[in-house]
Amino acid sequence: RTCSLLGAAIQTGASQPGCIMGPAALRTAGLAAVLSELDWEVTDLGDVTIAPQEPMPHANPAIHDLAETCAWIKALAPAAQKAAAEHDLPVFMGGDHAMAAGTVSGIAAHAASLGRPLFVLWLDAHPDLHTLMTTESGNLHGTPVAYFTGQPDFEAYPPLAHAVDPRHVCMMGIRSVDPAERARIKEIGVEVHDMRALDETGVLAPLRAFLARVRAANGLLHVSFDVDFLDPQIAPAVGTTVPGGATFREAHLIMEELCDSNLVSSLDLVELNPFLDERGRTARLLCDFTASLFGRRVLDRMTRSY
Ligand code: ARG
Ligand code: MN
Ligand code: MN
Ligand code: MN
Repeated sequence: RTCSLLGAAIQTGASQPGCIMGPAALRTAGLAAVLSELDWEVTDLGDVTIAPQEPMPHANPAIHDLAETCAWIKALAPAAQKAAAEHDLPVFMGGDHAMAAGTVSGIAAHAASLGRPLFVLWLDAHPDLHTLMTTESGNLHGTPVAYFTGQPDFEAYPPLAHAVDPRHVCMMGIRSVDPAERARIKEIGVEVHDMRALDETGVLAPLRAFLARVRAANGLLHVSFDVDFLDPQIAPAVGTTVPGGATFREAHLIMEELCDSNLVSSLDLVELNPFLDERGRTARLLCDFTASLFGRRVLDRMTRSY
């Protein structure tokens, strides 16, 4: 099977710089070689770039770097759509999570061209459900899910051709939610498994239930993996650490189960800030989790029959 790597060194959605080095760190950690060793045909598509931008003012004065984020979305959506059309499993290497406003909207267009629904698994400490009017930090990496599910007040972003149904979004690992996001979660019906829920049920039961929904709908599945989904003790290289994140074993189990399901059709690796890393350990860890998603196994074993 074929996969591709596409870099998006966007960092203007975050509060502190460093994600610009994310794609380079993932390449340095050997992501392409890891995937080739698992018998994938890997194409590195290089990095998407944007031109320098003129400032774009907004009614919400907290917002910063709006023009850059818009330019990234505009550049990434068609690039993601093309990568998905040409490869079985494109990997989008961020870059901060604002990247997903572009990648997911591009994949949504790809899914629409196939006449299939798009599902999104959002692995994150945060729901990233702010609109341009509700964000208080002004950090636009807090907005992608609201944008790609078609919420209001995104006139400044590129027009969204194909919204993702919020009921097709499943979030896991959530443990930092702002008041406006809490209200929106209730209102739009996104499936959220916060850390308490995962402590109660484990990760497998809710994941399998979601995968069954994807399969029954013949859906495409995009996985968006934010480094802060993980516990900061194992993954320090992220600007928005929140204690109490997913463990090494939970994250590997999720990736292995996703692999067995054979449903994943695209992946974001986002929020890696190599400037905050310790001798590359978080970049290496992300490669290992990605390897589990692409088929690395400790032992040969019977997979569940779906
Ligand atoms: N909710 C907070 C904000 O809007 C944090 C967002 C963090 N998002 C992320 N992709 N790391 O500022
Ligand atoms: Mn495809
Ligand atoms: Mn995020
Ligand atoms: Mn996050």
